[in-house]
Amino acid sequence: MCGIVAAIADRNIVSVLLQGLRRLEYRGYDSAGLALINEAGLLRLRAVGRVAELAAQAEARQAEGRAGIAHTRWATHGAPCERNAHPLVSGGLAVVHNGIVENHEVLRARLKNEGYEFTSDTDTEVVAHLIVSELKKTPDFFAATRAAVAQLQGAYALAVLRESEPDRVILVREGSPLLLGLSEDGNYAASDASALLQVTRRIVYLENGDCAELTRSGYRITRVDGSPVTRPEAETYLSVDAVELGQYRHYMQKEIFEQPTALANTLEMLGAARSVQAGLFGARCEETLKEINQVLIIACGTSYHAGLVARYWLEALAGVPCNVEVASEYRYREPVADPRTLVITLSQSGETSDTLAALRHAKSLGMRRTLCICNVPESSLVRENDLRFITRAGPEIGVASTKAFTTQLAALYLLTLVIARQRGRLSDDAGAAELQHLRHLPTAVSRVLELEPRIQEWAERFAMKQNALFLGRGRHYPIALEGALKLKEITYIHAEAYPAGELKHGPLALVDKNMPVIAVAPNDTLLEKLRSNLQVVRARGGELYVFADADSEIAPTDAVHLLRLPEHYGQLSALLHVVPLQLLAYHVALVRGTDVDKPRNLAKSVTVE
Ligand code: M6R
Repeated sequence: MCGIVAAIADRNIVSVLLQGLRRLEYRGYDSAGLALINEAGLLRLRAVGRVAELAAQAEARQAEGRAGIAHTRWATHGAPCERNAHPLVSGGLAVVHNGIVENHEVLRARLKNEGYEFTSDTDTEVVAHLIVSELKKTPDFFAATRAAVAQLQGAYALAVLRESEPDRVILVREGSPLLLGLSEDGNYAASDASALLQVTRRIVYLENGDCAELTRSGYRITRVDGSPVTRPEAETYLSVDAVELGQYRHYMQKEIFEQPTALANTLEMLGAARSVQAGLFGARCEETLKEINQVLIIACGTSYHAGLVARYWLEALAGVPCNVEVASEYRYREPVADPRTLVITLSQSGETSDTLAALRHAKSLGMRRTLCICNVPESSLVRENDLRFITRAGPEIGVASTKAFTTQLAALYLLTLVIARQRGRLSDDAGAAELQHLRHLPTAVSRVLELEPRIQEWAERFAMKQNALFLGRGRHYPIALEGALKLKEITYIHAEAYPAGELKHGPLALVDKNMPVIAVAPNDTLLEKLRSNLQVVRARGGELYVFADADSEIAPTDAVHLLRLPEHYGQLSALLHVVPLQLLAYHVALVRGTDVDKPRNLAKSVTVE
């Protein structure tokens, strides 16, 4: 959701900015732009649509500059059009911005009174005018930017360029991610490290409230009040291969097929251990778990579905009460808070605004024991939790989350085992057997991926449909929810998921011969119940697509299409059953010709409310 790249070096940095923007495309955007300082002054280019449009403009204009800022915009305030694309300018100053300035209306009114003219509908333009207004009082560019920032409310990251000061770029981080990239021949900044891999791996992560001044030979960081701070330099773990497509057609396809490796990497820390140690989740985990009465899981989208699966495990295996909440709702709820709750936040990106706000809300209600499961070690979420588990899925670039989900589930299952053992519900032998089972998961997922050709056949039939109904029971109901989410977000087919027992309470009215009904039907204790639900669908003429286990007694017929997964996986079967649903959505999207990795209206990381 919006991306920033900035560069200042002893050479033309246009290609660095454009390559950086291409790497940030996955975040979701609808327009792009850049500003450069060269001998002719400030050059601004903006384009609606893809970064390729912007690159074509830059080539046509033979754009050149040794200092510059660039941006991909995901529209929040004002339509996606060139007038609203960033950079926004004011009096020789250019600004790019991620996030939302919440008090922009008040500031806009004040600045209009001061005589500033607005040419866009964005909240960002107030920032450009505000800095220019501050420069009249404080001639120092860095100090004036800080003075302007002190008046902003909201969450944002900013990069600012000034025509009369070609030797520095100013950066600000408050709530939206921003980092510096350091190298011998120049210095850089970006929303995430993948955007800078072509120039450096040396990274300094800014903290909320940090302002930075970047020059060709160095940088300095202060707080908004000007007091200097030092942030450690780190080497990013990302590799170019991890963020390139390689042999794959789409990132989503790559990421689905990376799941065995992602799971193996996430479970690698178990080594040959016979029991799982609480220390995997942080030094104070053992102690914290002794103090809790219940678990509260908070997340959004796919991460929320992982939480829903985990509730079944935590209650049945670990015997701990568990609630799961959608973050965007929880952040405004007034729940009855038990301070002896372990609050678990789940997020691939660790930057989801609703999840962060919900975590802060939970803490403000007195629930101070917090744990996050996250795929990005440097993210805001990781910093705001006491305990943490970093999944090792590698960068997830496709908007549709896949490998982040299965690795979150693996982490949640490990946590379940830790709590079960601590509560005396898991013997040493049973624990060792569980770990063996987990270690076999990568192989088991690989075997499910071999079903792709069959799923491709099914996808051809689905491509013409306008609606689909997903059914599951027990811990496979969240898998049905996840299958429906995948289908709707990348194919635009309307899909809903229900616990199969709910059919007769309403959704059955939708079932006729045009409604494909997808059932997640492993051999679990609820299978017979589910089979009765499926009979009811057949009796109304519904066409069934059933994902069952190898030795399932469900038999295929003309209207019951059956796909058997190679092995039955007990409690962990949710991890296997989601894979064919990911593949189904992917192949239906291919047939329908939608933009698989960048579905319309969606962003990868939802950093605004
Ligand atoms: O980064 P997060 O896991 O916090 O993101 C949460 C959701 O925005 C995300 O899972 C979203 O639902 C995906 N696009 C689903 O594929």
